[in-house]
Amino acid sequence: MQDSLANSVNPAVLVFDSGLGGLTVLREIAALRRDLKLVYAADDAVFPYGRLDDAALIGRVSAVMDDLIARYRPALVVIACNTASTLTLPVLRAKHTIPFVGTVPAIKPACARSKTKRISVLATPGTVKRDYTRELIREFAGGCEVDLVGSEWLAPLAEAYLRGEEVADGRIAREIAPAFIDRGSMTDTVVLACTHYPLLLEKLRKLAPWPVEWIDPAPAIARRVASLLPAPGSPVTEPTRAFFTSGKLPGSALAKALKSFGIEAAGEAV
Ligand code: DGL
Repeated sequence: MQDSLANSVNPAVLVFDSGLGGLTVLREIAALRRDLKLVYAADDAVFPYGRLDDAALIGRVSAVMDDLIARYRPALVVIACNTASTLTLPVLRAKHTIPFVGTVPAIKPACARSKTKRISVLATPGTVKRDYTRELIREFAGGCEVDLVGSEWLAPLAEAYLRGEEVADGRIAREIAPAFIDRGSMTDTVVLACTHYPLLLEKLRKLAPWPVEWIDPAPAIARRVASLLPAPGSPVTEPTRAFFTSGKLPGSALAKALKSFGIEAAGEAV
């Protein structure tokens, strides 16, 4: 099936994640460019990506993306997922001619802002172990100490929170505690290197052992997207749609949450 998005004068931008985290990126793109026809796609059938091995993740993202691009013919794709971006971008770029904007740990700006010169990168276990992430540290950390903290549960907890489920503060506090280090110098900046984490930002601030600066790269990603597209045209009139590979339709709490991100319609399975 081919979607009518392709015929629109408003460029279509596909925002993709394993689950709901990419909404934090979609929100910034929508705020910056009201003329874009945004489509959100979540590969929730295999969420979380953080636990997949490299070969499985590359195969999965590549296959799902082939299908999404054929359906929606976007002008640009945002891989709003650090776990996927740090591994799959070269494969996707080799296969498709449209631009891909990825999300990767914001190590350079975090190190530049840190006064104590000690930052933590809070991410999924997948992102933490990537060569790509270690290369970013080698290239951009300068004299800054970078602690990599892989959290297995924070992304699923963020999903549960957005679905309106009870999430105990203690569970979140346990996941973020290793990011707070006082060893010669104290952590003063934490990179949110998983797009799910800004969904919990209020709680993260409240539960932090001491105040730190939380770096959410979403506004910078939105600016990068805008820079790759033609100058803004007239605002879109149709609502943003969301698609889920599981085929599950959102319950009432999630539908309400999606609405707060500008998503009026959740469509059929991808
Ligand atoms: N939102 C994804 C990211 O930015 C990760 C969640 C997952 O493990 O699937 O890394």
